[in-house]
Amino acid sequence: MLDTIYPLIRAGLFRLDPEVAHHLSLAGLRLAEQTGMLRLACPAAGLETPVELLGLRFGNRIGLAAGMDKDGNTIDGLGRLGFGSIEIGTFTPRAQPGNPKPRVFRLLDQEAIINRMGFNNPGIAAGVANARRARHFRGVLGFNIGKNKDTPNENAAVDYLECLRQAYPVADYIAVNLSSPNTPGLRELQGPEACARLLDTLQREQARLASEHGKRVPLLFKVAPDLDDAHIHELAAVFLAGGLDGLIATNTTLDRELVAGHPHAAQAGGLSGRPEFAKSTAVLQAFASHLGGRIPIIGVGGISSLEDAQAKLRAGASLVQVYTAFIYQGPGLIRRLARGLG
Ligand SMILES: Cc1cc2nc3c(=O)[nH]c(=O)nc-3n(C[C@H](O)[C@H](O)[C@H](O)COP(=O)(O)O)c2cc1C
Repeated sequence: MLDTIYPLIRAGLFRLDPEVAHHLSLAGLRLAEQTGMLRLACPAAGLETPVELLGLRFGNRIGLAAGMDKDGNTIDGLGRLGFGSIEIGTFTPRAQPGNPKPRVFRLLDQEAIINRMGFNNPGIAAGVANARRARHFRGVLGFNIGKNKDTPNENAAVDYLECLRQAYPVADYIAVNLSSPNTPGLRELQGPEACARLLDTLQREQARLASEHGKRVPLLFKVAPDLDDAHIHELAAVFLAGGLDGLIATNTTLDRELVAGHPHAAQAGGLSGRPEFAKSTAVLQAFASHLGGRIPIIGVGGISSLEDAQAKLRAGASLVQVYTAFIYQGPGLIRRLARGLG
């Protein structure tokens, strides 16, 4: 039913500033979940097509990408829409406000978004507390982690370690965000040497935490689409040598040729949605060919139809995530993908 009325809801939401619409939607989902309305509006039938990956059981192949539930306080409501996995965050050790507003822009005719949120989040401790309050979501819960804006890159590992330790008992997997374009210098951590060092540091802690908590939580690295093939080759070698558990490809792009001429094209930030699809999928495919199936990949970036999601799988992904097209198309997209990818 929610699928049917989404065009009306969207018409209302799209009259508002994107960030206001975002908060209103999540608040609406929480309310609808708490009152039991969401369960009636979104029957789960046919959405379960389980997939085993990373030692986890995903309810289906379609996940919610990071950055929509930045606080981790809408897990049950979003889960009700049919996602097999939800990635919350990005969380940093300390709460931070993010960049000045406005910082999210809709490119309506392109089904795209440019955002420069800058890791606005309540801090990892609040994120963990929020996640512990989720009661009904049975899918896989990922924690996406990053570093505070004022932490210099030399100390970035300290921030990631802090988030890893706090999230570990609650998370099904941890996504290490190396690829947001909105935290100055963050993408430098994708340099092969910096990346190898960070992977090694985090894996040592992962091993310690695994024995402390009696469970092994996989580590995934999330990369940018703005990497050339030589860089992808080097990074793939780092990931293979280090034995990374999984890769998430990709984050948003800085490339504006994809939306040249659009009035918002000059806005700073990361571009997501339909125009990013080809570039993001090419990077996914390049990683897949270098990794040769030895490290599983979650494909994200510009998926706006079942055909796109299938193309990500053909390019080498085992699972997919969406964000931008979900805003434009609503819960119907999730249900179509969950059923279609089964
Ligand atoms: C408004 C907005 C905020 C985002 N915030 C985050 C974030 O905090 N961490 C992250 O790893 N990715 C973030 N992303 C990137 C998405 O997770 C995803 O990688 C990207 O949008 C490409 O997928 P899409 O085309 O389906 O949106 C954000 C995207 C958008 C549009």
